[in-house]
Amino acid sequence: MNQIKKMLAVPAAVFALWAINAHAATNDDIAKRLEPVGQVCVQGQECKGMEVAAAASGGGAKTPDEIIAKHCNACHGTGLLNAPKIGDAAAWKERADHQGGLDGILAKAITGINAMPPKGTCADCSDEELKAAIQKMSGL
Ligand code: HEC
Repeated sequence: MNQIKKMLAVPAAVFALWAINAHAATNDDIAKRLEPVGQVCVQGQECKGMEVAAAASGGGAKTPDEIIAKHCNACHGTGLLNAPKIGDAAAWKERADHQGGLDGILAKAITGINAMPPKGTCADCSDEELKAAIQKMSGL
C-alpha cells in the first residue's frame, strides 16, 4: 500500500511542476500578445521606453516627421486604442469639429485624453511642434 502511494506521489509532483511551467509559459505568451498595449503610457506615470526616444532627439527643433515617427506613429499609425489614423482626414476632421478646430485637438493632445498620453509622449515637444505633427497626421 505504502509503495503504491510513493509511486503515485512522484508523478503527481512532476505533474504539478509541469502545470506550473505550462502556466508560466501561457502568461508569457499573453504578455507578449499584450505588448503593444502594455507600452501605452498612463498619465502621471513614467513612460517606459519613451524617455529614450526623447533623449535621442537631443533637443533642438524637431521636424513633424521625426516627432510622428518617434512618438505618434506607435498608436496613430495603426489606430491602436481607437486613435485616429494618420492620413484618415475624415476621422481627424470629425474630432476637430467636436473640439473647436485644430487648436482644440491640440489642447487635448497637450493634456492627454483617455488613452492618449499627454503630449503624445513627446514631453519636450513645444506646442508648435505638436501642432505641426497633428497637421501632418490629419491634413488639417
Ligand atoms: C499611446 C498611444 C498614443 C500615442 C503615443 C499618441 N496618441 Fe494621440 N491619441 C491616442 C488615442 C487613443 C486617441 C483617441 C483618444 C480618445 O478620444 O479617446 C488620440 C487622439 C489624439 C488627438 C485627438 C484629440 C481629440 O481631441 O480628439 C490628437 C490631436 C493626438 N492624438 C495627437 C497626438 C500626437 C501629436 C502624438 C505624438 C506626439 C500622439 N497623439 C501620440 C493615442 C496615442
